[in-house]
Amino acid sequence: DPPLSRLPEQWELWETTLDAAMQAKLQLAVKPGLTTKDEQTSGSWRDHVKRLPVLPTFELVRSELLLRRAHHVLSFIMHFYIHSLPLSSPVHIPEPISVPLVAVSNHLQLPPVVTYSDNVLYNWDIIRPRDQNELGVEPPALDSLRSQDMFTGTIDEQEFYLASARIELRGVEALELMRATMDEMFVGDEIAISRITGYLHKLASIVGELKDILLDVRKGCDPSTFYHTIRPWFRGADSDPAHRKWVFEGVEEQPTDLSGPSAGQSAFIHALDVFLGLDNCNVVEGGVTPDQRTLLRRMQIYMPRHHRNFLRHLSTNPRPVRSLLAQETPDAELLDAYNSAVLSVKEFRDAHIKIVAIYIIGPAARERKEREAVDVQAEDAPKDEKIVLKGTGGTDLVRFLKGVRDKTAEAVIEPT
Ligand code: HEM
Ligand code: ALA
Repeated sequence: DPPLSRLPEQWELWETTLDAAMQAKLQLAVKPGLTTKDEQTSGSWRDHVKRLPVLPTFELVRSELLLRRAHHVLSFIMHFYIHSLPLSSPVHIPEPISVPLVAVSNHLQLPPVVTYSDNVLYNWDIIRPRDQNELGVEPPALDSLRSQDMFTGTIDEQEFYLASARIELRGVEALELMRATMDEMFVGDEIAISRITGYLHKLASIVGELKDILLDVRKGCDPSTFYHTIRPWFRGADSDPAHRKWVFEGVEEQPTDLSGPSAGQSAFIHALDVFLGLDNCNVVEGGVTPDQRTLLRRMQIYMPRHHRNFLRHLSTNPRPVRSLLAQETPDAELLDAYNSAVLSVKEFRDAHIKIVAIYIIGPAARERKEREAVDVQAEDAPKDEKIVLKGTGGTDLVRFLKGVRDKTAEAVIEPT
Protein backbone atom coordinates (compact mmCIF):
# COMPACT_ATOMS: atom_id res chain seq x y z
CA ASP A 1 0.00 0.00 0.00
CA PRO A 2 1.12 3.56 -0.55
CA PRO A 3 2.29 5.38 2.58
CA LEU A 4 -0.04 7.70 4.49
CA SER A 5 -0.50 11.01 2.66
CA ARG A 6 -1.59 13.14 5.62
CA LEU A 7 -1.44 13.00 9.41
CA PRO A 8 -4.69 13.21 11.39
CA GLU A 9 -6.10 16.58 12.54
CA GLN A 10 -3.98 16.70 15.73
CA TRP A 11 -0.82 17.26 13.68
CA GLU A 12 -2.43 19.31 10.91
CA LEU A 13 -0.16 22.26 11.78
CA TRP A 14 2.87 20.30 10.57
CA GLU A 15 1.10 19.37 7.35
CA THR A 16 0.01 22.94 6.61
CA THR A 17 3.52 24.21 7.40
CA LEU A 18 4.94 21.82 4.81
CA ASP A 19 2.18 22.76 2.33
CA ALA A 20 3.06 26.43 2.83
CA ALA A 21 6.78 25.80 2.12
CA MET A 22 5.95 23.91 -1.07
CA GLN A 23 3.36 26.45 -2.27
CA ALA A 24 5.67 29.40 -1.59
CA LYS A 25 8.35 27.63 -3.65
CA LEU A 26 11.02 28.53 -1.12
CA GLN A 27 14.39 29.16 -2.72
CA LEU A 28 17.72 27.65 -1.73
CA ALA A 29 19.99 30.08 0.10
CA VAL A 30 22.91 28.92 -2.11
CA LYS A 31 21.08 29.82 -5.33
CA PRO A 32 22.53 32.81 -7.19
CA GLY A 33 20.25 35.76 -7.95
CA LEU A 34 17.98 35.53 -4.89
CA THR A 35 15.65 38.54 -4.75
CA THR A 36 14.68 40.46 -1.62
CA LYS A 37 11.20 39.02 -2.11
CA ASP A 38 12.59 35.45 -2.02
CA GLU A 39 14.37 36.29 1.23
CA GLN A 40 11.26 37.86 2.75
CA THR A 41 9.12 34.86 1.80
CA SER A 42 11.50 32.34 3.32
CA GLY A 43 12.09 34.58 6.38
CA SER A 44 8.39 34.85 7.16
CA TRP A 45 7.88 31.09 6.64
CA ARG A 46 10.73 30.39 9.08
CA ASP A 47 9.23 32.84 11.61
CA HIS A 48 5.99 30.87 11.35
CA VAL A 49 7.92 27.63 12.06
CA LYS A 50 9.53 29.18 15.15
CA ARG A 51 6.11 30.22 16.50
CA LEU A 52 4.49 26.77 16.11
CA PRO A 53 3.53 25.01 19.33
CA VAL A 54 5.59 21.93 20.23
CA LEU A 55 3.00 19.28 19.37
CA PRO A 56 3.02 16.09 21.45
CA THR A 57 4.20 12.89 19.78
CA PHE A 58 3.17 10.16 22.24
CA GLU A 59 0.00 9.32 20.31
CA LEU A 60 1.97 8.82 17.11
CA VAL A 61 3.65 5.84 18.67
CA ARG A 62 0.50 3.77 18.30
CA SER A 63 1.10 3.40 14.58
CA GLU A 64 4.18 2.78 12.50
CA LEU A 65 2.44 4.47 9.55
CA LEU A 66 1.85 7.67 11.56
CA LEU A 67 5.47 7.69 12.71
CA ARG A 68 6.72 7.32 9.12
CA ARG A 69 4.57 10.17 7.85
CA ALA A 70 5.67 12.31 10.82
CA HIS A 71 9.35 11.63 10.03
CA HIS A 72 8.76 12.51 6.40
CA VAL A 73 6.89 15.77 7.14
CA LEU A 74 9.16 17.00 9.94
CA SER A 75 12.42 16.16 8.16
CA PHE A 76 11.20 17.90 4.99
CA ILE A 77 10.28 20.99 7.05
CA MET A 78 13.73 20.88 8.68
CA HIS A 79 15.55 20.75 5.32
CA PHE A 80 13.34 23.58 3.97
CA TYR A 81 14.23 25.56 7.10
CA ILE A 82 17.99 24.95 7.02
CA HIS A 83 18.60 25.29 3.30
CA SER A 84 16.59 28.51 2.94
CA LEU A 85 18.64 30.16 5.75
CA PRO A 86 21.30 32.64 4.64
CA LEU A 87 24.70 30.94 4.70
CA SER A 88 25.86 33.49 7.28
CA SER A 89 23.17 32.36 9.79
CA PRO A 90 23.93 29.65 12.32
CA VAL A 91 21.81 26.50 11.95
CA HIS A 92 19.53 26.38 15.00
CA ILE A 93 16.59 24.07 14.37
CA PRO A 94 13.73 25.49 16.44
CA GLU A 95 12.04 23.39 19.13
CA PRO A 96 8.67 22.95 17.36
CA ILE A 97 10.57 20.87 14.77
CA SER A 98 13.67 19.56 16.56
CA VAL A 99 11.88 18.12 19.60
CA PRO A 100 9.18 16.07 17.81
CA LEU A 101 11.54 15.06 14.98
CA VAL A 102 14.10 13.65 17.40
CA ALA A 103 11.35 11.88 19.38
CA VAL A 104 9.83 10.31 16.27
CA SER A 105 13.28 9.39 14.92
CA ASN A 106 14.16 7.66 18.19
CA HIS A 107 11.03 5.53 17.91
CA LEU A 108 11.80 4.63 14.31
CA GLN A 109 15.52 4.18 15.01
CA LEU A 110 16.26 6.52 12.11
CA PRO A 111 18.45 9.63 12.18
CA PRO A 112 16.54 12.99 12.35
CA VAL A 113 17.34 13.99 8.77
CA VAL A 114 15.79 13.40 5.33
CA THR A 115 16.58 9.79 4.36
CA TYR A 116 15.96 7.70 1.22
CA SER A 117 12.78 6.47 2.94
CA ASP A 118 11.48 10.03 3.28
CA ASN A 119 12.16 10.81 -0.40
CA VAL A 120 11.10 7.50 -1.89
CA LEU A 121 9.63 4.79 0.35
CA TYR A 122 7.32 7.08 2.40
CA ASN A 123 6.66 9.49 -0.45
CA TRP A 124 4.76 7.78 -3.26
CA ASP A 125 1.18 7.33 -4.33
CA ILE A 126 -0.79 5.56 -7.04
CA ILE A 127 -2.32 7.61 -9.84
CA ARG A 128 -4.48 4.86 -11.34
CA PRO A 129 -5.25 1.92 -9.09
CA ARG A 130 -5.12 -1.38 -10.99
CA ASP A 131 -8.18 -3.54 -11.11
CA GLN A 132 -8.01 -5.59 -7.98
CA ASN A 133 -7.38 -9.25 -8.63
CA GLU A 134 -9.10 -11.82 -6.47
CA LEU A 135 -6.69 -11.40 -3.61
CA GLY A 136 -6.36 -7.66 -4.13
CA VAL A 137 -2.60 -7.93 -4.14
CA GLU A 138 -1.71 -6.83 -7.67
CA PRO A 139 1.22 -4.41 -7.36
CA PRO A 140 0.76 -0.98 -8.94
CA ALA A 141 2.01 -0.46 -12.50
CA LEU A 142 5.42 1.21 -12.78
CA ASP A 143 3.99 4.09 -14.80
CA SER A 144 1.15 4.89 -12.42
CA LEU A 145 3.17 6.34 -9.56
CA ARG A 146 3.56 9.89 -8.35
CA SER A 147 5.46 11.50 -5.49
CA GLN A 148 3.56 13.12 -2.62
CA ASP A 149 5.85 15.95 -1.52
CA MET A 150 8.76 17.76 -3.13
CA PHE A 151 11.23 20.57 -2.43
CA THR A 152 11.01 22.09 -5.89
CA GLY A 153 7.71 20.75 -7.23
CA THR A 154 9.45 19.98 -10.54
CA ILE A 155 8.79 16.99 -12.77
CA ASP A 156 12.55 16.44 -12.60
CA GLU A 157 12.47 15.97 -8.82
CA GLN A 158 9.53 13.61 -9.08
CA GLU A 159 11.23 11.55 -11.81
CA PHE A 160 14.38 11.37 -9.70
CA TYR A 161 12.40 9.86 -6.77
CA LEU A 162 10.27 7.64 -8.99
CA ALA A 163 13.29 6.06 -10.70
CA SER A 164 14.13 4.59 -7.30
CA ALA A 165 10.50 3.80 -6.45
CA ARG A 166 10.08 1.87 -9.72
CA ILE A 167 13.28 -0.08 -9.03
CA GLU A 168 12.00 -0.99 -5.55
CA LEU A 169 8.66 -2.08 -7.00
CA ARG A 170 10.13 -4.15 -9.85
CA GLY A 171 12.58 -5.51 -7.28
CA VAL A 172 9.75 -7.26 -5.42
CA GLU A 173 9.95 -10.14 -7.90
CA ALA A 174 13.72 -10.31 -7.41
CA LEU A 175 13.17 -10.63 -3.65
CA GLU A 176 10.67 -13.42 -4.29
CA LEU A 177 13.25 -15.26 -6.40
CA MET A 178 15.79 -14.89 -3.61
CA ARG A 179 13.33 -16.38 -1.15
CA ALA A 180 12.44 -19.23 -3.50
CA THR A 181 16.17 -19.97 -3.93
CA MET A 182 16.72 -20.09 -0.18
CA ASP A 183 13.76 -22.49 0.12
CA GLU A 184 15.17 -24.78 -2.57
CA MET A 185 18.52 -24.76 -0.82
CA PHE A 186 16.98 -26.57 2.13
CA VAL A 187 16.33 -29.47 -0.22
CA GLY A 188 19.50 -29.11 -2.28
CA ASP A 189 18.86 -32.11 -4.58
CA GLU A 190 19.19 -32.14 -8.37
CA ILE A 191 15.74 -30.76 -8.99
CA ALA A 192 16.37 -27.96 -6.51
CA ILE A 193 19.64 -27.09 -8.24
CA SER A 194 17.95 -26.94 -11.62
CA ARG A 195 15.19 -24.70 -10.18
CA ILE A 196 17.78 -22.42 -8.59
CA THR A 197 19.56 -22.22 -11.96
CA GLY A 198 16.30 -20.98 -13.51
CA TYR A 199 15.72 -18.48 -10.70
CA LEU A 200 19.22 -17.02 -11.10
CA HIS A 201 18.72 -16.53 -14.86
CA LYS A 202 15.42 -14.81 -14.14
CA LEU A 203 17.09 -12.67 -11.49
CA ALA A 204 19.73 -11.59 -14.02
CA SER A 205 17.02 -10.56 -16.44
CA ILE A 206 15.14 -8.55 -13.79
CA VAL A 207 18.34 -6.74 -12.75
CA GLY A 208 18.79 -5.96 -16.47
CA GLU A 209 15.34 -4.32 -16.39
CA LEU A 210 16.33 -2.38 -13.27
CA LYS A 211 19.32 -1.02 -15.17
CA ASP A 212 16.98 0.20 -17.94
CA ILE A 213 14.69 1.84 -15.37
CA LEU A 214 17.72 3.58 -13.86
CA LEU A 215 18.93 4.82 -17.27
CA ASP A 216 15.40 6.05 -18.04
CA VAL A 217 15.78 8.68 -15.31
CA ARG A 218 17.33 10.75 -18.16
CA LYS A 219 13.92 10.99 -19.84
CA GLY A 220 12.34 13.06 -17.09
CA CYS A 221 15.11 14.57 -14.97
CA ASP A 222 17.37 17.25 -16.43
CA PRO A 223 20.96 16.94 -15.09
CA SER A 224 21.49 20.66 -14.59
CA THR A 225 18.14 21.09 -12.78
CA PHE A 226 19.02 18.09 -10.62
CA TYR A 227 22.48 19.35 -9.74
CA HIS A 228 21.72 23.04 -9.16
CA THR A 229 18.11 23.15 -8.02
CA ILE A 230 17.12 19.82 -6.49
CA ARG A 231 20.22 18.21 -4.99
CA PRO A 232 21.24 21.06 -2.64
CA TRP A 233 17.97 20.55 -0.68
CA PHE A 234 19.21 17.08 0.30
CA ARG A 235 22.44 18.24 1.93
CA GLY A 236 23.11 16.77 5.34
CA ALA A 237 25.23 18.38 8.06
CA ASP A 238 28.40 16.83 6.56
CA SER A 239 27.94 18.67 3.25
CA ASP A 240 26.89 22.05 4.59
CA PRO A 241 28.58 24.61 2.28
CA ALA A 242 29.36 26.88 5.26
CA HIS A 243 30.43 23.94 7.52
CA ARG A 244 27.94 24.97 10.19
CA LYS A 245 27.04 22.74 13.09
CA TRP A 246 23.36 21.78 13.16
CA VAL A 247 21.99 22.56 16.63
CA PHE A 248 18.74 20.82 17.61
CA GLU A 249 17.27 23.27 20.12
CA GLY A 250 15.64 21.81 23.23
CA VAL A 251 17.21 18.39 22.61
CA GLU A 252 19.53 17.06 25.26
CA GLU A 253 21.61 14.59 23.30
CA GLN A 254 22.59 16.19 19.98
CA PRO A 255 22.24 13.82 17.00
CA THR A 256 25.45 12.90 15.16
CA ASP A 257 24.41 10.80 12.11
CA LEU A 258 23.28 13.58 9.80
CA SER A 259 24.26 12.67 6.23
CA GLY A 260 21.78 13.40 3.46
CA PRO A 261 19.61 10.90 1.58
CA SER A 262 21.05 8.49 -1.00
CA ALA A 263 19.74 5.42 -2.82
CA GLY A 264 22.74 3.74 -1.21
CA GLN A 265 20.33 3.56 1.76
CA SER A 266 18.08 1.18 -0.21
CA ALA A 267 18.05 -2.22 1.50
CA PHE A 268 17.03 -3.86 -1.76
CA ILE A 269 20.39 -3.42 -3.51
CA HIS A 270 22.23 -4.45 -0.32
CA ALA A 271 20.03 -7.58 -0.21
CA LEU A 272 21.15 -8.51 -3.73
CA ASP A 273 24.76 -8.13 -2.61
CA VAL A 274 24.31 -10.32 0.44
CA PHE A 275 22.32 -12.93 -1.47
CA LEU A 276 24.87 -13.23 -4.27
CA GLY A 277 27.75 -13.10 -1.77
CA LEU A 278 29.17 -9.94 -3.35
CA ASP A 279 30.58 -9.02 0.00
CA ASN A 280 30.49 -5.31 -0.46
CA CYS A 281 29.84 -4.95 3.23
CA ASN A 282 32.10 -7.28 5.09
CA VAL A 283 34.90 -8.97 3.20
CA VAL A 284 38.34 -7.88 4.31
CA GLU A 285 40.51 -9.16 1.48
CA GLY A 286 40.58 -7.62 -1.99
CA GLY A 287 40.22 -4.25 -3.60
CA VAL A 288 37.80 -2.56 -1.24
CA THR A 289 39.47 -0.45 1.42
CA PRO A 290 38.16 -0.56 4.99
CA ASP A 291 36.45 2.81 4.82
CA GLN A 292 34.52 1.84 1.67
CA ARG A 293 33.19 -1.16 3.53
CA THR A 294 32.17 0.85 6.51
CA LEU A 295 30.52 3.38 4.18
CA LEU A 296 28.05 0.75 2.97
CA ARG A 297 27.54 -0.34 6.57
CA ARG A 298 27.03 3.30 7.53
CA MET A 299 24.24 3.53 4.95
CA GLN A 300 22.35 0.91 6.96
CA ILE A 301 21.97 3.35 9.87
CA TYR A 302 19.68 5.35 7.57
CA MET A 303 17.42 2.42 6.65
CA PRO A 304 14.11 1.57 8.29
CA ARG A 305 14.94 -0.79 11.16
CA HIS A 306 12.95 -3.68 9.60
CA HIS A 307 15.11 -3.43 6.50
CA ARG A 308 18.27 -3.32 8.60
CA ASN A 309 17.10 -6.39 10.54
CA PHE A 310 16.24 -8.19 7.32
CA LEU A 311 19.77 -7.63 6.00
CA ARG A 312 21.21 -8.84 9.28
CA HIS A 313 19.01 -11.93 9.03
CA LEU A 314 20.10 -12.59 5.43
CA SER A 315 23.73 -12.24 6.46
CA THR A 316 23.41 -14.99 9.07
CA ASN A 317 23.41 -17.41 6.15
CA PRO A 318 26.67 -16.25 4.63
CA ARG A 319 27.02 -16.34 0.85
CA PRO A 320 24.04 -18.66 0.37
CA VAL A 321 24.32 -19.22 -3.37
CA ARG A 322 28.09 -19.18 -3.57
CA SER A 323 28.23 -21.97 -1.01
CA LEU A 324 26.53 -24.23 -3.60
CA LEU A 325 29.39 -23.51 -5.97
CA ALA A 326 32.17 -24.10 -3.47
CA GLN A 327 32.99 -27.55 -4.80
CA GLU A 328 35.79 -28.81 -6.97
CA THR A 329 33.48 -29.32 -9.93
CA PRO A 330 30.44 -27.14 -9.42
CA ASP A 331 27.35 -27.68 -11.58
CA ALA A 332 28.24 -25.95 -14.87
CA GLU A 333 24.74 -24.61 -15.56
CA LEU A 334 24.36 -23.30 -12.03
CA LEU A 335 27.74 -21.60 -12.31
CA ASP A 336 26.73 -19.99 -15.59
CA ALA A 337 23.46 -18.75 -14.05
CA TYR A 338 25.24 -17.40 -10.98
CA ASN A 339 27.80 -15.57 -13.09
CA SER A 340 25.10 -14.01 -15.24
CA ALA A 341 23.35 -12.73 -12.09
CA VAL A 342 26.62 -11.24 -10.79
CA LEU A 343 27.36 -9.65 -14.16
CA SER A 344 23.88 -8.11 -14.26
CA VAL A 345 24.58 -6.37 -10.93
CA LYS A 346 27.97 -5.25 -12.25
CA GLU A 347 26.27 -3.82 -15.35
CA PHE A 348 23.70 -2.07 -13.13
CA ARG A 349 26.62 -0.44 -11.29
CA ASP A 350 28.33 0.50 -14.60
CA ALA A 351 25.10 2.22 -15.67
CA HIS A 352 24.86 3.92 -12.28
CA ILE A 353 28.37 5.34 -12.68
CA LYS A 354 27.33 6.64 -16.11
CA ILE A 355 24.34 8.37 -14.50
CA VAL A 356 26.56 9.85 -11.80
CA ALA A 357 28.88 11.22 -14.51
CA ILE A 358 25.92 12.90 -16.24
CA TYR A 359 24.19 14.21 -13.11
CA ILE A 360 27.08 15.12 -10.80
CA ILE A 361 30.58 14.90 -12.28
CA GLY A 362 29.71 16.83 -15.49
CA PRO A 363 27.71 19.67 -13.87
CA ALA A 364 30.30 19.98 -11.07
CA ALA A 365 33.12 20.34 -13.61
CA ARG A 366 31.16 22.96 -15.60
CA GLU A 367 30.38 24.85 -12.41
CA ARG A 368 34.04 24.90 -11.46
CA LYS A 369 35.06 26.18 -14.89
CA GLU A 370 32.48 28.95 -14.78
CA ARG A 371 33.61 29.99 -11.33
CA GLU A 372 37.24 30.06 -12.39
CA ALA A 373 36.35 32.14 -15.44
CA VAL A 374 34.77 34.87 -13.36
CA ASP A 375 37.07 34.65 -10.38
CA VAL A 376 40.10 36.86 -10.92
CA GLN A 377 41.81 35.22 -7.99
CA ALA A 378 41.58 31.91 -9.81
CA GLU A 379 44.60 33.07 -11.83
CA ASP A 380 46.73 32.16 -8.83
CA ALA A 381 44.81 29.09 -7.81
CA PRO A 382 46.51 25.75 -8.57
CA LYS A 383 44.65 24.42 -11.65
CA ASP A 384 45.34 20.73 -11.09
CA GLU A 385 44.21 20.77 -7.49
CA LYS A 386 42.43 17.43 -6.89
CA ILE A 387 38.79 17.97 -6.05
CA VAL A 388 37.01 15.23 -4.15
CA LEU A 389 33.32 15.15 -5.08
CA LYS A 390 31.02 14.19 -2.25
CA GLY A 391 27.72 12.35 -2.67
CA THR A 392 24.68 13.51 -0.74
CA GLY A 393 25.18 10.39 1.39
CA GLY A 394 28.56 11.79 2.42
CA THR A 395 30.83 9.50 0.39
CA ASP A 396 33.88 10.28 -1.75
CA LEU A 397 31.64 9.25 -4.60
CA VAL A 398 33.98 8.30 -7.46
CA ARG A 399 36.24 6.13 -5.32
CA PHE A 400 33.28 4.60 -3.49
CA LEU A 401 31.16 3.75 -6.52
CA LYS A 402 34.04 2.39 -8.61
CA GLY A 403 35.29 0.37 -5.60
CA VAL A 404 31.90 -1.27 -5.12
CA ARG A 405 31.49 -1.90 -8.87
CA ASP A 406 34.96 -3.49 -9.15
CA LYS A 407 34.33 -5.65 -6.11
CA THR A 408 31.14 -6.89 -7.78
CA ALA A 409 33.05 -7.79 -10.97
CA GLU A 410 35.57 -9.78 -8.91
CA ALA A 411 32.80 -12.06 -7.65
CA VAL A 412 32.47 -13.80 -11.05
CA ILE A 413 33.69 -17.40 -10.65
CA GLU A 414 35.83 -18.74 -13.50
CA PRO A 415 34.91 -22.32 -14.54
CA THR A 416 37.66 -24.78 -13.56
C1 HEM B 1 25.03 5.50 -4.32
C2 HEM B 1 24.13 9.23 -7.26
C3 HEM B 1 20.06 7.09 -8.77
C4 HEM B 1 21.29 3.16 -6.24
C5 HEM B 1 25.10 6.72 -4.94
C6 HEM B 1 26.10 7.72 -4.68
C7 HEM B 1 25.86 8.75 -5.51
C8 HEM B 1 24.70 8.42 -6.30
C9 HEM B 1 26.65 10.01 -5.62
C10 HEM B 1 27.23 7.61 -3.66
C11 HEM B 1 26.69 7.62 -2.26
C12 HEM B 1 26.38 9.01 -1.76
O1 HEM B 1 25.28 9.50 -2.00
O2 HEM B 1 27.24 9.62 -1.10
C13 HEM B 1 22.97 8.95 -7.96
C14 HEM B 1 22.35 9.83 -8.93
C15 HEM B 1 21.20 9.23 -9.35
C16 HEM B 1 21.11 7.97 -8.64
C17 HEM B 1 22.92 11.17 -9.37
C18 HEM B 1 20.15 9.68 -10.35
C19 HEM B 1 20.15 10.86 -10.96
C20 HEM B 1 20.03 5.86 -8.18
C21 HEM B 1 18.93 4.92 -8.29
C22 HEM B 1 19.29 3.81 -7.61
C23 HEM B 1 20.59 4.05 -7.04
C24 HEM B 1 17.63 5.16 -9.06
C25 HEM B 1 18.49 2.56 -7.42
C26 HEM B 1 17.66 2.38 -6.42
C27 HEM B 1 22.44 3.45 -5.55
C28 HEM B 1 23.12 2.50 -4.70
C29 HEM B 1 24.20 3.17 -4.15
C30 HEM B 1 24.15 4.51 -4.66
C31 HEM B 1 22.71 1.06 -4.44
C32 HEM B 1 25.27 2.56 -3.19
C33 HEM B 1 26.46 2.12 -4.00
C34 HEM B 1 26.29 0.76 -4.62
O3 HEM B 1 25.77 -0.16 -3.97
O4 HEM B 1 26.73 0.60 -5.79
N1 HEM B 1 24.25 7.17 -5.92
N2 HEM B 1 22.20 7.83 -7.82
N3 HEM B 1 21.01 5.30 -7.40
N4 HEM B 1 23.08 4.65 -5.52
FE1 HEM B 1 22.68 6.22 -6.71
N1 ALA C 1 23.20 10.42 -3.69
C1 ALA C 1 22.91 11.23 -4.83
C2 ALA C 1 23.86 12.40 -4.93
O1 ALA C 1 24.89 12.44 -4.32
C3 ALA C 1 21.51 11.70 -4.83
O2 ALA C 1 23.59 13.28 -5.66
